[in-house]
Amino acid sequence: MVVSLLLQTFALADTVLPQYAHDKSLGVASCSSSLCHGSIETWKNSDVLQNEYVTWLRSDKHARAYNVLLNARSKEIARKLGLKEPAEKSNLCLDCHTHNPPPAQRGEKYEVSDGVSCEACHGAAERWIKSHVEVKATHQRNIEKGLYPTENDVARVHLCLSCHLGTEKKFVTHRMMAAGHPRMSFELDTFTQIGPAHFRIDDDWHKRKGSWDGVRAWAIGQAVYAQDLLKLLQGPRGRDGLFPELVLFDCHSCHHNMSDKRNTAARVGAGPGVVRINDASFLMLRQIAKCVDPNAAPILAKEVFALHHAVADGSDALKRAHAVEATISKLIPKISAHQFSAEDLRGIMLGLIDEGLEGQYGDYQGAEQAVMAVQSVADFMGRSGMLRTAALRANLKQLLALTANDEKYRSASFEQALRALKSNIATGAAK
Ligand code: HEC
Ligand code: HEC
Ligand code: HEC
Ligand code: HEC
Repeated sequence: MVVSLLLQTFALADTVLPQYAHDKSLGVASCSSSLCHGSIETWKNSDVLQNEYVTWLRSDKHARAYNVLLNARSKEIARKLGLKEPAEKSNLCLDCHTHNPPPAQRGEKYEVSDGVSCEACHGAAERWIKSHVEVKATHQRNIEKGLYPTENDVARVHLCLSCHLGTEKKFVTHRMMAAGHPRMSFELDTFTQIGPAHFRIDDDWHKRKGSWDGVRAWAIGQAVYAQDLLKLLQGPRGRDGLFPELVLFDCHSCHHNMSDKRNTAARVGAGPGVVRINDASFLMLRQIAKCVDPNAAPILAKEVFALHHAVADGSDALKRAHAVEATISKLIPKISAHQFSAEDLRGIMLGLIDEGLEGQYGDYQGAEQAVMAVQSVADFMGRSGMLRTAALRANLKQLLALTANDEKYRSASFEQALRALKSNIATGAAK
């Protein structure tokens, strides 16, 4: 099991993101016929729903991602950045707001205005469009012909993060954010659910594609996010003039009123007045490592601590970043192979809450990730009958409300809400 997962992880290292595939992209019109994925109703005797196009078009923001580039906010961003072309013509924006393969890889029905289209996630369809509907088609064979392995957590989160965090090739810089681009955050399980999902994970899905576990997806999402952030920090994107790239740091460690004394860097043992790397995913990884590799958990904690110090005093920060990245790389195949038990879930949930009560979510981005994590884990515990999630609805709603607006976030109220959640888990919602 572990060996096959390891092999799979190595094989994935060569998986090319859809935008850079050598095959032609054929355009949404090639998928959306009512006899294909554009049915209004779901089909009873098909493995897949067949109404994927309708779900995507009506309710998925990806279908409108190109149109965003035509709005007033985008015009303002382009103006402030001094772009030579309008946003909807600039690869700087198109690389994430649509499926943007090079012109030679665009089929006849390809439309730039399709936005983040089917092929932006499922891969250029040139070699699999015909064969994927043959009776003898298998998922593996489709992948060999260029279908992107979206069912695999590691491959999927790399795909999502290529736009939702960015890569060396495409990136939302602090300058772009200061010009008006929103701050970005990502959590794989939550973002997969709110998509909304145009697929159903049922018995035949498991048979065709393997296992699906929301908590494992959350855990892998956190690990890969941390890994990608550290890679960016070490690469050319990590610098902007004299300064490091500020997007990789905690926004609110700089952006708050001076009278609001937070000294949040003290939490990680760095002194007052220090800018802190965005460590929300490291905080989540602490809980994950405790389940998956208890020996690695204290090592990771020590390395992250050393990284914060090195960033603050300028000594071998990049070496430290590399060390944390290497530890996380070793953790990822272990997370992929881990079966999260009832005890793990309870441990993660209470661990997340206790970290908050110890003041670890003094700043917004940690709290934001903690809420998404608590929701995913509570949801899973509810479905597997370990908790009466209905009894927690008010607590979860309160946590969401307290993190809905980063500018209004107050850690004291957040901690109070966590305390209420903890006592409710111990009494009302326990099974
Ligand atoms: C690295 C990928 C990436 C790049 C490059 C990028 N964006 Fe975005 N953009 C996103 C993502 C992802 C979101 C959604 C963020 C969220 O809601 O979490 C977004 C959101 C936005 C929004 C807000 C949309 C809304 O619904 O309110 C605007 C406006 C926007 N982008 C404009 C631009 C412009 C203009 C450019 C080029 C200067 C650009 N973006 C470049 C990924 C990118
Ligand atoms: C933002 C990425 C994204 C976009 C855009 C997207 N999909 Fe998907 N799709 C996924 C993910 C993730 C899954 C679930 C994992 C899997 O089954 O591989 C999925 C699953 C599917 C499945 C398989 C369901 C099953 O039971 O095996 C079909 C069919 C599908 N999508 C069709 C489409 C079509 C058609 C479009 C365009 C109208 C589209 N998708 C757009 C990400 C995307
Ligand atoms: C090619 C770039 C790209 C890829 C790949 C991509 N996204 Fe997105 N995503 C975007 C952009 C751009 C937006 C913003 C669209 C808008 O605001 O209209 C967005 C918006 C979203 C939103 C809505 C967020 C909100 O604030 O409402 C969700 C959820 C989401 N993406 C999930 C995913 C998931 C899950 C994956 C991976 C399976 C993924 N995305 C892959 C570019 C991408
Ligand atoms: C090291 C401190 C630091 C960090 C970290 C930081 N910023 Fe900034 N930010 C600044 C400075 C300095 C300016 C420029 C203010 C000015 O032009 O008056 C700025 C400007 C901005 C502006 C424009 C506001 C204005 O006054 O013009 C926005 C929006 C913004 N940042 C968002 C973010 C986001 C989102 C993050 C995290 C992803 C972030 N910043 C991280 C220091 C920081």
